[in-house]
Amino acid sequence: MSQYPVSPRDFEFPSLQQAARDVAEHAHAPYSRFRVGAALLLEAPEAGFVATGCNVENASFRLTTCAEQAAVASAVARFGPAMRIRAVAIANLNGAACSPCGACRQTLLEFSSPETRIAFPGANGTIIFISLAELLPFAFSFSQA
Ligand code: THU
Repeated sequence: MSQYPVSPRDFEFPSLQQAARDVAEHAHAPYSRFRVGAALLLEAPEAGFVATGCNVENASFRLTTCAEQAAVASAVARFGPAMRIRAVAIANLNGAACSPCGACRQTLLEFSSPETRIAFPGANGTIIFISLAELLPFAFSFSQA
């Protein structure tokens, strides 16, 4: 778990993307050899804090934890369940396109707003900037009857 202090005023996506690349170096990905990092910029009162996570694979493949899930777990462990995500950057060390998987989109949504911004590598070295509402339309939400 690592937290990068970033001033919200100074905040730019490049620093969040750098945090995602840095943490991807710590990934445990001996099976896929696809090292992923995710960095979350948090809302007030944790504004400026960045929680990071990387993928952690397992010999029993289905037990793998994605980078985004690890980052969310790290942020909740550090700040508690009231923490909210303002922006997310995702990176990998393979120079590949890498959009968050469906499960990770739903995991991010639990602590985000529809306006939460996400940056991830698209095809041919591009970076895609998108809102979570665009990335996960018709998301599942739970309300008790
Ligand atoms: N992976 C992530 O960390 N995040 C995603 O959103 C998609 C996939 C990881 C899981 C696995 O270790 C590797 O990428 C290949 O699927």
